[in-house]
Amino acid sequence: MSHTRLGIIGAGHIGGNIARRAALAGYDVTVSFARDPANLTALAAEIGGAAGAPAEAATAGLVVLSVPWGLLDEALAQAGSLAGRVVIDTTNQFGRGVAATLNGHTAARYNADRMPGAAYTKCFNTLTAGFQAEAATRHGADRVVQWIAGDDTQAKKIVAELAEACGYVAVDLADVDGCGVMEAPRRPGAVYGEEYRQTDAAAVVAAVQAGRPIPPAPAY
Ligand SMILES: NC(=O)c1ccc[n+]([C@@H]2O[C@H](COP(=O)([O-])OP(=O)(O)OC[C@H]3O[C@@H](n4cnc5c(N)ncnc54)[C@H](OP(=O)(O)O)[C@@H]3O)[C@@H](O)[C@H]2O)c1
Repeated sequence: MSHTRLGIIGAGHIGGNIARRAALAGYDVTVSFARDPANLTALAAEIGGAAGAPAEAATAGLVVLSVPWGLLDEALAQAGSLAGRVVIDTTNQFGRGVAATLNGHTAARYNADRMPGAAYTKCFNTLTAGFQAEAATRHGADRVVQWIAGDDTQAKKIVAELAEACGYVAVDLADVDGCGVMEAPRRPGAVYGEEYRQTDAAAVVAAVQAGRPIPPAPAY
């Protein structure tokens, strides 16, 4: 299955930026899931991609799921099975009652379990959409890190290729159960909400993989 065919379910602030950057890098992009289909056709025309239903986006080998947390059930229902796909979840678990729903698990675990057979990853979720769009055109040592979580090493490589093609430094940080540092809220001891560059990434990865607290967030 081709992983340069990219389906985006939720092409809004985050998914729209990924769509634009990936299309520029040569990915074949299909955008989906909006209240007003005209938003999708306009974006598709802008980037030279296609607009369609979530089920069409879900035929791609690489699928970005980027909808507000409360719409995930609806988006997944419209997408249909994601088995065999590399899925990139950009979502953050905001909303009433979410902590009880997660019951001590990572939001990534909760979502991965909702996509049986998919090679689930989490990425593009720790930085604001505005900052991601602005930072995507940086070069060299100024590029920002997009952390990647997941249990499937090959899937994480495919996601890393996309993140690098979009203009970021891709860093494999954790597995699905161990990626709590990537998840909201912003707080000391987490990478969520913080800018990182390549030079500071290795120490974070080493700490997370050793189960140690991560170093204080850098200031650039
Ligand atoms: N925004 C950020 O700074 C940021 C940063 C990191 C992670 N995230 C996470 O990434 C995910 C996506 O965030 P986002 O800010 O990109 O979301 P968004 O732009 O608000 O929405 C994503 C897409 O969902 C569609 N949508 C919204 N409400 C809908 C509804 N009721 N029915 C059908 N479609 C609907 C929107 O299309 P239309 O508006 O055209 O209907 C939009 O294309 C979220 O889980 C968020 O927590 C966001």
